[in-house]
Amino acid sequence: MTHGPQRSRVPDGAPALVTGASSGIGEAIARRLAGRASPLVVTGRDPGRLDAVAGATGAHGVVADLTTTAGRAAVVAACGAHGVGLVVHAAGVGAAGPFSGVDPDTVDAVLAADLVAPVQLTRALWPDVVRARGHVVFVASIAALGVAGEATYSAAKAGLRTFADALRLEEPDVGVTTVLPGVVDTPFLARRGYDRSVPRPVSADRVAAATLRAVERGRAEVFVPRWLQVASVVQGAAPAVFRWASPS
Ligand SMILES: NC(=O)c1ccc[n+]([C@@H]2O[C@H](COP(=O)([O-])OP(=O)(O)OC[C@H]3O[C@@H](n4cnc5c(N)ncnc54)[C@H](OP(=O)(O)O)[C@@H]3O)[C@@H](O)[C@H]2O)c1
Repeated sequence: MTHGPQRSRVPDGAPALVTGASSGIGEAIARRLAGRASPLVVTGRDPGRLDAVAGATGAHGVVADLTTTAGRAAVVAACGAHGVGLVVHAAGVGAAGPFSGVDPDTVDAVLAADLVAPVQLTRALWPDVVRARGHVVFVASIAALGVAGEATYSAAKAGLRTFADALRLEEPDVGVTTVLPGVVDTPFLARRGYDRSVPRPVSADRVAAATLRAVERGRAEVFVPRWLQVASVVQGAAPAVFRWASPS
């Protein structure tokens, strides 16, 4: 799918929400938004780490498990009074290992956190975002192209990418950006037993900078690092070459 640039619609000072802000990419995005969004609402599960980020960014922190209806409702309520112009969905979990060995609870947990939660949260905030002619960012992954050893995670991220494509077509007045990072140096890798050094890890702040640049420029998709976009082009043009070159 090709995407032209969208018009950027989120001025500095608009209310913003960042999920997954207690760690990694979400934290880096929240830190870059400090002083640029008003108010800034940040959310995560770990109260201590979230407090530290909220304190450093002047944000309002909401501790919530986004896989629960109550958790999402608490986040929506925190945004409620001001509306929301920019929503960044960075919360997510991974799962590495052969699909033959994956247990059913892991499948449920990955799909709940990486697909159902951002879709449901977007649904709840959508009227506000449309009213604000705002912008929604989905932090997907290069795994959206399909990566061996990450079948469930790949399915969730591909679903998220396609959800974003559909929203972009449906509501041209809202900016929708999908971020597809390769390997990022965050606690995510150790938490889920990943052993990935290829492609070379990039910093969470590099992903944050690329994300906010993509919002400002109204980009539909951004790969980080940018050269990873080649993988997407090859997958479309020469699927056999893509399969041959993919790590197994
Ligand atoms: N790191 C990578 O190599 C990489 C590559 C491509 C894409 N990504 C994607 O980038 C996003 C951010 O990952 P990261 O690397 O920054 O990972 P991270 O450092 O582990 O941070 C993940 C964040 O998501 C939050 N989260 C997880 N499950 C949640 C739930 N059920 N409810 C609410 N919050 C939840 C975590 O909250 P707590 O810590 O408070 O529990 C944390 O703030 C994820 O969507 C991930 O799939 C990461």
